[in-house]
Amino acid sequence: MQTPASHIVVKTPVVDSIGELFAAHGLGRKCVLLFDENTRKLFGDDILESLRNQGFQTCELVVPARETSKSLSSAWKLYSRMIESNIDRSWNLLAVGGGVVGDLGGYIAASYYRGIPVVQLPTTLLAMTDSSIGGKVAVNHPLGKNLIGFFHMPELVLIDPAYLKSLPSREIYGGMSEVVKYGFIADRSFFDFLDEHFEEIIRFEEPYLTEAVSRSAFIKADVVEKDFRETTGLRATLNFGHTFAHGLEMLAEYRNLRHGEAVTIGMVCALCLSHRLGFLAEAELTEGLRLLGKIRFPKGVIEKRFLSHESDALYESMFSDKKKIDRKLRFVLVDRIGRAFLHGEDVERADVIDSIEDARAWFRKRNA
Ligand SMILES: NC(=O)c1ccc[n+]([C@@H]2O[C@H](COP(=O)([O-])OP(=O)(O)OC[C@H]3O[C@@H](n4cnc5c(N)ncnc54)[C@H](O)[C@@H]3O)[C@@H](O)[C@H]2O)c1
Ligand SMILES: [Zn+2]
Repeated sequence: MQTPASHIVVKTPVVDSIGELFAAHGLGRKCVLLFDENTRKLFGDDILESLRNQGFQTCELVVPARETSKSLSSAWKLYSRMIESNIDRSWNLLAVGGGVVGDLGGYIAASYYRGIPVVQLPTTLLAMTDSSIGGKVAVNHPLGKNLIGFFHMPELVLIDPAYLKSLPSREIYGGMSEVVKYGFIADRSFFDFLDEHFEEIIRFEEPYLTEAVSRSAFIKADVVEKDFRETTGLRATLNFGHTFAHGLEMLAEYRNLRHGEAVTIGMVCALCLSHRLGFLAEAELTEGLRLLGKIRFPKGVIEKRFLSHESDALYESMFSDKKKIDRKLRFVLVDRIGRAFLHGEDVERADVIDSIEDARAWFRKRNA
């Protein structure tokens, strides 16, 4: 298997070097570009022009900018377009966009002609630091998200943080949630860096933005490389906060709650649970909550999507998470900032409920 980290390039402007990079990685100059309507409008002309100037033959595909584009029916339409355009195995697919385009593009590349190479050009903070790395590609099924897919490693992940400048602040804060997650699970010094420079990063100030993006991407790549198929429990630590988050997303029916927002709430719960079960010292809990407190939410989201639900309802909803095993909930906990583990034992319902209550009390105080 490839080493994911050797295929990640962080550079501004990255598109200017695309020809060289493709050549260095043994990729030909025939490229299907997949955009969503927003990324086509924002970056399409520049990217297409740059590729053509570098001698590429291109074919352009555009999907609506919404989660429902990650479906078999939209993949089917794109296959047809590709067949009609005589795209064969000598072509690559370049996915230009957020996680939706990245997952859909990866899915199509994994299946078209039994697999063509995919290159990721992520344009959201979440995609640069999470979804473009690790080779999980999927479409949604009406009965659940990301259920139909493959492991299809990208040949290259081209990260250019300058693309983030047009991203709405809600998407930035959402993405910051996963960035902060890497500090919690893998790297104390990264946590300290984020704590110190949070505001600069949010304002896209360099070199802080690029450092935050690049360290996150490499932490994810490193974890994936060590546990590609989730056998040792290491890759599972990427799900810190996610058991709670998936429960909240189900309760909200995915309406007006961004994934990153659910993960921030989930990490508050997971920190409280880590402390309650005696793994995490009080001082580290306080520090952890202080950094999470810097992540902002649109007005009313915490109240409507978290505080308005009973803790019991969230607990029940967590069982519906597809990662449940025998109705047992698995939790990723931290025993210090920078080190996470998959807790192997059952956690008492009362402890989970109490930690949700702790989190609610913390948010109420913060919002007061
Ligand atoms: N494969 C994985 O490992 C993995 C991991 C996490 C999430 N995901 C998936 O990622 C998806 C969410 O990704 P996302 O949060 O990037 O959402 P997204 O792809 O829907 O992008 C969010 C919005 O931002 C717009 N946008 C993209 N780049 C922009 C830019 N630079 N400036 C302005 N607007 C821009 C998009 O058009 C879209 O409207 C979900 O489907 C989720 O399942 C996959
Ligand atoms: Zn996530």
